[in-house]
Amino acid sequence: MFLRFAVLCLVLCLQNVASEWKKPTVLIAVLARNKAHTLPYFLTTLENLDYPKNRISLWIRSDHNSDKTIEILRKWINAVKDEYRMISTEFVEENEGYPDESGPAHWTPERFNHVIDLRESSLNFARKIWADYYWTIDCDVFLTNPKTLDILISKGYTVVAPMLKSDGLYSNFWYGMTDDYYYQRTEDYKPVVNRENIGCFNVPMVHSCVLVDLRRQVSDFLTYDPDKVPNFDGPIDDIITFAIGANRSGISLNLCNDERFGFVMLPLEQDANLAIDFEQLTNIKLEVLTEEKPLNVSKLLEAYTWLPEKDTLGFDKIFMINLLRRPERRQRMRFCFDELGLQVTIVDAVDGRALNASILQQISPLPEYADPYHKRPMTLGEIGCFLSHYNIWKDIVRNGYETTLVLEDDIRFESFFRTKVLNVMDEVKRVSGWDLVYLGRKRLQEDDEPWVEGSSLLVEAGYSYWTLGYVLSLNGAKKLLNADPLSRLVPVDEYLPILFDKHPQTSWKGYFPKRNLVALSAAPLLVYPTHYTGEQGYISDTEDSVIIKENGPRARDDL
Ligand SMILES: *[C@@H]1O[C@H](CO)[C@@H](O)[C@H](O)[C@H]1NC(C)=O
Ligand SMILES: *[C@@H]1O[C@H](CO)[C@@H](O)[C@H](O)[C@H]1NC(C)=O
Ligand SMILES: *[C@@H]1O[C@H](CO)[C@@H](O)[C@H](O)[C@H]1NC(C)=O
Repeated sequence: MFLRFAVLCLVLCLQNVASEWKKPTVLIAVLARNKAHTLPYFLTTLENLDYPKNRISLWIRSDHNSDKTIEILRKWINAVKDEYRMISTEFVEENEGYPDESGPAHWTPERFNHVIDLRESSLNFARKIWADYYWTIDCDVFLTNPKTLDILISKGYTVVAPMLKSDGLYSNFWYGMTDDYYYQRTEDYKPVVNRENIGCFNVPMVHSCVLVDLRRQVSDFLTYDPDKVPNFDGPIDDIITFAIGANRSGISLNLCNDERFGFVMLPLEQDANLAIDFEQLTNIKLEVLTEEKPLNVSKLLEAYTWLPEKDTLGFDKIFMINLLRRPERRQRMRFCFDELGLQVTIVDAVDGRALNASILQQISPLPEYADPYHKRPMTLGEIGCFLSHYNIWKDIVRNGYETTLVLEDDIRFESFFRTKVLNVMDEVKRVSGWDLVYLGRKRLQEDDEPWVEGSSLLVEAGYSYWTLGYVLSLNGAKKLLNADPLSRLVPVDEYLPILFDKHPQTSWKGYFPKRNLVALSAAPLLVYPTHYTGEQGYISDTEDSVIIKENGPRARDDL
């Protein structure tokens, strides 16, 4: 009896003890410059953090803007100010850049010094108000995991950062630093970014989203100010100063990827303009969508979000094939098209499950056909899929569309998709007699595919699977129909290589005497499947083509 009571008390009392303590206090420091496009998403994720707001103070500074950054900050602060412990702001309204600045991505020494001053004063502000933690977050960081702060605190480090995903291999940490304190790529980097290697890692640099435990004695040595680091010989740069200073004080910088925390945008290249940042935001929104759910925007800030005008990218028509009973895919693709500004006609796919005898009567499979891997005949799903594409080809011919883009619904778009499609099509237009251009496929031929003469974006397509996305000419559609595929049906992704005469199965080809389709492929590809089934070969096709971007020495772009 007593034992039972004791156990019960142990459980209940421990729970009580746990909730008896208030959460540590945190100062979040935010520097915002020309971030009107990211702020609605940034502030919403900040607001959605699962942490008591009366334990959080905010320190927000903004100046040198040429957009609505301050207006958005004011509007948001006004709505939330009573919830947070305290909000300290200083906004400078004048609409000017720094002198000698060539553009928003240009870091003049004056700008660096200004940012160093601001960061240092935010850190000192946190010390002064006795905040337990100092947390600096850039405005192009989107913490989709609301538990991020609790998790980081639980790690127990003096300095810790959550690993943030981005476009390609970019992230908010370095795994190597050169002798003169610049970014160095090491073998350890990629497995951490890709979360093949999971845990917390001692790294030479973390930035963009960094939590500091100010209750630790050693934290007093942390600084952004190069004058405070003895014998400092690095570049004038706030994050490099912070990293070198920490290291000289024996403080390790830790990066954790054991949970998914969120996303960070790529920094702008030196000569880039803000329009590129809009596109980068689109890339990130699509990336977030592929991995999780759409980035949310609070009602209050919805009016400040922006979607591009829609067009068909110069095609006569863009079709997307989707099964009615896959509404979640349709919705996801609609969201992508909104983000990308694509005017797309959604075509209800022919559902293999709903194929009835009268339709099946019009079709006869190719007698020798057997799936090369499973050695089975065609499935109803494959027949439905073929008919879906076939119906579009008929529509193209009926309407005389000169160029059409056909997309499936389980695809992921390469970043800067619009621009890249336009570039590819510029080259396609110079090729005479093309019929089909793959934008997404699984390449099966091992040998190199020859480049189209004079092109750096197009190859002659070899044996390929999948029909994720392709451009079709009117002539191409005619060839695909004229070969009368329904009377000797094979899956559509076998049919295309047969017609462009790159299919290895000679006996099948015999059924299609006219195999003169001219098929090219974008290289690198521009669409990928959202999910791979884990087969060998899938991954390399992607990896070869994803543009790899890394942390350059100027790997950052807030103020
Ligand atoms: C400081 O940097 C050196 C050289 O990169 C490294 O070996 C050492 O572990 C770092 N110190 C801490 C505390 O992280
Ligand atoms: C957006 O909000 C919804 C509903 O509150 C939530 O379920 C979803 O996870 C949020 N998405 C992200 C990326 O945080
Ligand atoms: C077979 O399906 C087609 C298309 O869905 C439909 O138009 C037709 O009426 C169906 N025929 C029968 C006999 O159910």
